[in-house]
Amino acid sequence: MSETLHGRAAEAAALSFTESEMRRIMDKVGGMIVDHFTGLKDRPVTTPSTLPSLKAGLAEALPMEAVPVDDLLDQVRSFVLDQMTHQDHPRNFAFVPGPSNFIGAMADALASAYNIFCGAWIGPSGSAQIEITVIEWLRQLFEFPETAGGLFVSGGSMANMTCLAVARHEMLANNPFNATIYFSDQTHSSVAKGLKILGFQQYQLRKIASDGHYRLPMEALRQKIAADRQQGLVPFCVVANAGTTNAGAIDPLNEIADFCAAEGLWMHVDGAYGGSAALSPSGRKALDGLNRADSLSIDPHKWMFQPYEMGCAIVRNQAYLKDTFRVSAEYLKIMEESAEQPNFSDYGVQLTRGFRALKLWMSLKAFGVPAFREAIEGGIRMAEKTEERLRQNPAWEIVTPACLGIVTFRWTVDGMAEKDLDALNAKISSDLIMNGYAMLSPTVMSGRLVLRMCTINPRTTLEDIHGTVRTMEEIAAALV
Ligand SMILES: Cc1ncc(COP(=O)(O)O)c(C=O)c1O
Repeated sequence: MSETLHGRAAEAAALSFTESEMRRIMDKVGGMIVDHFTGLKDRPVTTPSTLPSLKAGLAEALPMEAVPVDDLLDQVRSFVLDQMTHQDHPRNFAFVPGPSNFIGAMADALASAYNIFCGAWIGPSGSAQIEITVIEWLRQLFEFPETAGGLFVSGGSMANMTCLAVARHEMLANNPFNATIYFSDQTHSSVAKGLKILGFQQYQLRKIASDGHYRLPMEALRQKIAADRQQGLVPFCVVANAGTTNAGAIDPLNEIADFCAAEGLWMHVDGAYGGSAALSPSGRKALDGLNRADSLSIDPHKWMFQPYEMGCAIVRNQAYLKDTFRVSAEYLKIMEESAEQPNFSDYGVQLTRGFRALKLWMSLKAFGVPAFREAIEGGIRMAEKTEERLRQNPAWEIVTPACLGIVTFRWTVDGMAEKDLDALNAKISSDLIMNGYAMLSPTVMSGRLVLRMCTINPRTTLEDIHGTVRTMEEIAAALV
């Protein structure tokens, strides 16, 4: 069939392009990528669009004919890239931003273009060796013992679920009946979601009210576990936060580690947001005890500046990952591993896996670890400077002081009722988004709506911070 085709038609039948076309398209895409990295700070954080306009541009019929690639790039530019919310924008302080970095993006492009399979060690496998090397670097950076190992997954949610699956396997022999697990009410929803997927029922999840600093209170934890044991339940795990999403609050890691050791409980630390701060001098101090966890989730696609998707599950005893996940099959015999040649598909859910490790390997090498430590420390400092700036105007109430790169606050008006203040602060946030200069996301703390800035992007400047606070003050003044 293909012999009868010529030129463009033959290429199309093979889902390919000529070399000159590929080079031309690559130049264009490369230019778009460089434009993104160089021009981002001068563009709006988010460009409001409407569903009807997006539908008009993108809800199309199945393409039965080939469309020129230049037209596709124009369409993507107009309806996606020019209308999106930039998670890597230096003035995006919402949720947990994804600052990313150019080298990581390039590594992803290479990994995707070469379509590298990282489920197993097949042939001379430099990709597997890079993954082993990066996991070993993380083990050293997070100061885990030599027995520890890990697995790159899609993000923090998957890392939490992977670690909790290991805890269930090792502590309960996969029989979760009557087992109970403990965490504060500030714990990320991915923990409860992971537990739900793993078969735990709501009555097995003990969500403990956090203390005045939004940390897990040890006394309440002790009492709850003692009461549950008396009832014949089987407490098996405590989930500690190394930086809550709301406020960057850190649970008392050393106390939890002591308690878990004494009570024979698994200690999982959700460090998906703040765990990476352990690489910086002040974060290391604040997170003392992190390396005593039985398992730890971190999220390189947040505060280790990698493009999506990259999370990491670190387990104190690497062998537990394999105990938990390995299932063999005849058609996989060719991939049977030796001690030096691990198959990462045996360590988690995915068989076919992409080469996530490459981006972190290339970024750590291209910039060096000290640059990462400095970039993370800079994010912690930037939240402190944000707090300093807010304190200059008494209309701002600091709700939680800067902690691990997050500060929460709200605009106050003398005599205004709480619910009206909630509405006012929500409006400040939504008007700021419409303005496009900056973006932050509100949250609810102790029943009150508060504004929240997460300042982990190393390309954020002090002027960005001052400009954002100034813009919010102008919005507030116009509203009251
Ligand atoms: C503390 C914490 N844990 C888990 C997650 C989930 O991570 P992901 O969105 O990468 O799945 C987040 C996300 O912000 C988080 O802040």
